Amino acid sequence: MHCEFELAKNLYWIGGDDKRLGIFEGHHPVPKGMAYNNYLLLDEKAVLFDTIDRAVEERFLETLDYLLADRELDYIIVHHMEPDHSATLETVAKRNPAAKLVCTATCKKLIGQFFGPELEERTIVVKDGDSLETGTHTLAFALAPMVHWPEVMVTYDVEDKILFSADAFGSFGALDGRLFDDMYDFENELLDEMRRYYTNIVGKYGTQVNELLDKADTLDIEMVCPLHGPILRDHIADLAAKYRKWASYEPEDEAVVIAYASVYGGTRDVAEKLAFKLSDAGIHDLALFDLSMTDPSYVLSEAFRASNIVLASVTYNAGVFPKMNELVDCMVEHNLRRRRFSFIQNGSWGPIAGKKMMESIERIPEAQIVGDLFTIKSRMTDEQDAELEALAKSIIDSIRNPEEPVMADVHQLAPEPTPIVGATKPMAKPPAKVAVYNSAGIPVAPGMEGKVKIEEKEPEPVKEKAKTKVVQIWRCTFCGYQAEVLKGTDMDTYVCPVCLKSGPGQFILVREKEVPL
Ligand code: FEO
Repeated sequence: MHCEFELAKNLYWIGGDDKRLGIFEGHHPVPKGMAYNNYLLLDEKAVLFDTIDRAVEERFLETLDYLLADRELDYIIVHHMEPDHSATLETVAKRNPAAKLVCTATCKKLIGQFFGPELEERTIVVKDGDSLETGTHTLAFALAPMVHWPEVMVTYDVEDKILFSADAFGSFGALDGRLFDDMYDFENELLDEMRRYYTNIVGKYGTQVNELLDKADTLDIEMVCPLHGPILRDHIADLAAKYRKWASYEPEDEAVVIAYASVYGGTRDVAEKLAFKLSDAGIHDLALFDLSMTDPSYVLSEAFRASNIVLASVTYNAGVFPKMNELVDCMVEHNLRRRRFSFIQNGSWGPIAGKKMMESIERIPEAQIVGDLFTIKSRMTDEQDAELEALAKSIIDSIRNPEEPVMADVHQLAPEPTPIVGATKPMAKPPAKVAVYNSAGIPVAPGMEGKVKIEEKEPEPVKEKAKTKVVQIWRCTFCGYQAEVLKGTDMDTYVCPVCLKSGPGQFILVREKEVPL
């Protein structure tokens, strides 16, 4: 069967929903499924904008055949090679042997990698600002590398003022027949999943998203056709404004996210008590997450929205609880900068989770630490109430006086792990040994004087200093990838393995360290 919707004259949506997916990209829960959009323009030339995921291939192909009737495709515009859009590219290309594949140079390489040289040879490579005449339409191309892969581009239909935005402006969730954003309550039905989609899919690449927004700002856009989620025609400016904030890592709201990792409830109880204190003081925009029950994609999304983040973790295997580790890594990888962080740790005998979380968060540029590290040993005691109150006050102050954030040195805040509870009393000193010497002045065991054969002692061999090397961490200014290389590596010619960029100034030095050979 065929299923299409005419968006404008001769322009059709021909996508589909996958309601059985469960986990998108093998990673992110999508309880409401996933929508895959693609589009067909039947101008003097027949142009397909992207193909589709295998899960919804059959109806897409039947719809394409139905709309093409006795025509063949002239062009397939490949905005993005990720298989949720390109898995069926080879199938469509083989059914339309005269069709040319229009894409970026990086995309051409990826087409070769995925499908071999035959398809690669059918490409027409376009650059930023190039355009294609299809009859009555002019399609202008703009590169959008790293939104979400390096080969991505977007297309602007000059006549219809439509932006085909690839992964940008997309959303998690199936359409369920509601194709346009004005068929939803934007704030209550769409925004949260659009934010979770943005933060988890392209949240790391704020610089590149801002570059795309700069390009979009020069266009008169009446409709945005993304590869996922509803088509935008009513909330384009609203979502673009949100994208600006997200891409700039600017919090949307003065709000608090408290995420806790607790095994038997001790850490949870402190997190909840802190939430009550904040709420009692008038901070009502707060969210509390049990990381054993909530996927990090949801917490990351809320963390992009909020100004303050409290991380509370039990110490586990002399480190951070795995669920918290996953969240912290996620925030560091996504460069969640310009946030205020506070920390709570629990450790029945050696609390260390707080220090380790702080060391990780310190890697995020512009991260502020608010308040002192709050430590409990197994359970919070009544005597610690004032200390928790002080942490709550620091968080509240940072929200109410955002111009004067409470800054702190994480190394000062994070004490060394304390000894096992119950062994903190200084241990009794062992009795002083009485030195006994033989006639040669050599110290010997008591009772052995005169019985020791004195030998010329070989001088202790001078211990060779452990051999080390110096490695450096360099950050790609384009995609944020961090390369660990030997000191002396020529970073002017080093090619970023993620975004494939290189050249002088492409990488900036983050730090260097000495490691054993
Ligand atoms: Fe929807 Fe990056 O693929």
